[in-house]
Amino acid sequence: MSSNVLLTLVDLRKWYRIKKGIFGTVEYVRAVDGVSFNLRRGEAISLVGESGSGKTTLGKTILGLEKPTSGKIIFEGRDLASLDSKGMTWYRRQTGFVQQDPFGALPPFMTVARILEEPMIINKVEKKERRERIYRALTEVRLTPVEDYLKKYPHMLSGGQQQRLVIARAIILNPKLIIADEPVSMLDASVRIEILTLLRELQKRHNLSIIYITHDLSTTRYFSEWIFVMYAGKIIEKGLTSELLKNPLHPYTRALLQAIPDPDAKNRFVIREIPPGEPPSLVNPPSGCRFHPRCVFAKKGLCDKKEPPEFEVEKGHLVSCWLYENTEK
Ligand SMILES: Nc1ncnc2c1ncn2[C@@H]1O[C@H](COP(=O)(O)OP(=O)(O)O)[C@@H](O)[C@H]1O
Ligand SMILES: [Mg+2]
Repeated sequence: MSSNVLLTLVDLRKWYRIKKGIFGTVEYVRAVDGVSFNLRRGEAISLVGESGSGKTTLGKTILGLEKPTSGKIIFEGRDLASLDSKGMTWYRRQTGFVQQDPFGALPPFMTVARILEEPMIINKVEKKERRERIYRALTEVRLTPVEDYLKKYPHMLSGGQQQRLVIARAIILNPKLIIADEPVSMLDASVRIEILTLLRELQKRHNLSIIYITHDLSTTRYFSEWIFVMYAGKIIEKGLTSELLKNPLHPYTRALLQAIPDPDAKNRFVIREIPPGEPPSLVNPPSGCRFHPRCVFAKKGLCDKKEPPEFEVEKGHLVSCWLYENTEK
């Protein structure tokens, strides 16, 4: 494997154990159910899928906030499962987390300066360097002039400014990987592009790898090198952003793309197809291909019985769908 690879997932699973009914029968929610991929240094992946498809669980499991049920997470050649607590402290420094709700992610009674200092105190960064890094991080996220922000509390900032602060905190220890989970979905439409552009700039400047999690395919267009589409705990299509948007393969990806509102005024009243039906239960997922109950192309005896493997239809463009069985390059 090339040393250019930062993160590798091998058949990663995260099942939540739940108790159901009066007898308390144990069942499992298969939130992440066999995910494998490589993420290279300096590259961004958009992880797209409907609510409930397992995106947040996947992000948290990668960050070490949830323990995998099975499978492997390999970061810079090190298997996370083999790290002791010192190793995990090292790993936490390599990763940053940006969540959907910036206000909820910020301690309300700490000033901006204190919020940014906290992770550096924990990681024993010396005082002079702490000051320098706070200035640098605030400048990078454009909370400037820095002096105007240092003594402010989170509630004194707008939603966009709060998210900039969360991003500053996420990058303050020079991580190599950022996971941004719906980072703009709670912000005003006017600041969404600004925040995504900022993340993209930081990615380029620091050669960061980013996993950008979103239910909104339309925001990925200018953001990432890759788009991975997640459905019911699995990644069902992977491709370069431009290729996948031009040539979506999986019936689910196609339906998602059609659900994007058309900005062209003359098409405004065209009723667009949205993925019909409901996302499946993750406690008792459908047999075979998990999308088959919603799929107009589903072949009886195949799609409802056998899980499709990944077919590489174009170089680097992979799809888990029986329609592409004989089209591999
Ligand atoms: N702590 C938990 N315990 C039990 N089920 C959970 C837990 N967290 C998430 N889930 C379930 O896992 C599935 C995937 O959730 P999530 O990862 O949040 O999806 P997404 O981020 O794509 O909306 C959902 O069915 C959700 O209810
Ligand atoms: Mg989520």
